[in-house]
Amino acid sequence: MTLRDIRSAKVKDKRVIIRVDMNVPFSARGRIADTFRIKESLATIRWILSRGGKVFVLLHRSRPRGFERKYSIAPIAARAAGLLRQPVKIVRNPIKEDPHAYRNYAVLFCENIRFFAGEEANTASFSRALARWGELFVNDAFAVSHRRSASVVGLPKFLPSYGGLLLLREVRALTAVFTRPRRPLLVILGGAKISTKIPYIAGLLKKADRVVLGGALLNTVLAAKRLEVGRSLIEPAMFRESRKLLRQQKLFLPGDVVVTKGPQRAGKRRTVAVGRIEEKDYILDIGSRGSGAIQRLIKSARTILWNGPLGNVDLPGGEGATLILLRALLRARGNAVIGGGDLGALLKKIRTRSRRIYVSTGGGATLEFVARGTLPGIEALKKT
Ligand code: 3PG
Repeated sequence: MTLRDIRSAKVKDKRVIIRVDMNVPFSARGRIADTFRIKESLATIRWILSRGGKVFVLLHRSRPRGFERKYSIAPIAARAAGLLRQPVKIVRNPIKEDPHAYRNYAVLFCENIRFFAGEEANTASFSRALARWGELFVNDAFAVSHRRSASVVGLPKFLPSYGGLLLLREVRALTAVFTRPRRPLLVILGGAKISTKIPYIAGLLKKADRVVLGGALLNTVLAAKRLEVGRSLIEPAMFRESRKLLRQQKLFLPGDVVVTKGPQRAGKRRTVAVGRIEEKDYILDIGSRGSGAIQRLIKSARTILWNGPLGNVDLPGGEGATLILLRALLRARGNAVIGGGDLGALLKKIRTRSRRIYVSTGGGATLEFVARGTLPGIEALKKT
């Protein structure tokens, strides 16, 4: 079965439930640090509103444990309201509240969907409670379509369902680049979501000619090799899976890293070989030798998939190698897809657009789509 396009739906006078991914980064001061995912999600909402429909928007923010006020979607809803130039009303509890009471509002945003246990447990009762809020369902959340949660794979069982404009665009763009990629195909993986990404590396190693690791993925693989990584971010639960990857010739691990010491991790920076990291060190970024080697790989690649920054970009000095390599990407000949962990925001810092570089809203979702050719959220839409 094929994916039904929202443009084939009749939305006039209907309330459309739409799942979006507006899970944007926030600064230490609690401000939205990058609006890319919000802006990219507005096209489908506008499309529905301009055709006389109303929307009930479902979204998540971060990974809360139950109700955590600091993860309210209120600042995201406020930003969306400003961009839409339309008031947005927040529904605090979609299970207990009555949809009828909100009938006069054109744009409803549901409070962080991950505040409710039924979301990640994907219970039928939670999907049914959500389904009361509309007559159609649209999945426009490509970036979370790798999660088997109620608002992604559960709702299509209860309502006529469609793919939104952003989801369809992502599928088209990634299919065009990765179905028969021009070779060499280089994959660069970084960022902090270790257990999300490590499971995809084996599949990507089969598909790619070279896979480069940086960020917390590199730390975890180095620690799995029993090398000292000091106080760096790692996930020991991923050691066994990491060791299996080490046998792969196609895997490239940078041989040097930038480290720092001190409680704020703002101490003096040093570049050291990976075998010379000390107990109190914190790995901030990859080193200049490693980044030089990756620059050469970028230059010769014809297709590049890059997911997540190679250093900790939240700390001073952590974005150096990533910025150097983004500049190398702008000079390179290959087509590239980048995304995940604020990489798009960093690209914007140095230059806004290149026709060869597609910025995907997906992080882990993009990796799973490239490795497996589809996502659970897309398959769920095809079954309706
Ligand atoms: C992302 O940021 O990649 C998506 O919003 C999914 O978030 P998750 O990894 O917390 O499920």
